[in-house]
Amino acid sequence: MAERLAGAAKLPRGELQRFEIDGFPICVAHVESGRFLAVADTCSHEDQSLSEGWLDGCQIECPRHHAMFSMETGEALSYPAEEPIETFTVAVDGDDLLIERGAVAA
Ligand code: FES
Repeated sequence: MAERLAGAAKLPRGELQRFEIDGFPICVAHVESGRFLAVADTCSHEDQSLSEGWLDGCQIECPRHHAMFSMETGEALSYPAEEPIETFTVAVDGDDLLIERGAVAA
């Protein structure tokens, strides 16, 4: 069942924001194309919030050691991160986002 993030669709384009679902931190991005993407907020390298990093297209850069991740697949694209991060399916419902575990919908 999808979890509702109230007001999350108001996030401006090009920005990242951290949310929590049942205490689990999620990083939501509103990419320049207009899509919303969501991944686990904790870097797979060390305990670092990715929402404090930078968005580059559909990729996110960790602010601590600058590993890049695909926000579409969760794949670690550069060192020092080697393990992927979890991705979530995102649907827009008015001003809210509906988040579900699993591959990101197109
Ligand atoms: S903590 Fe993210 S790359 Fe090291």
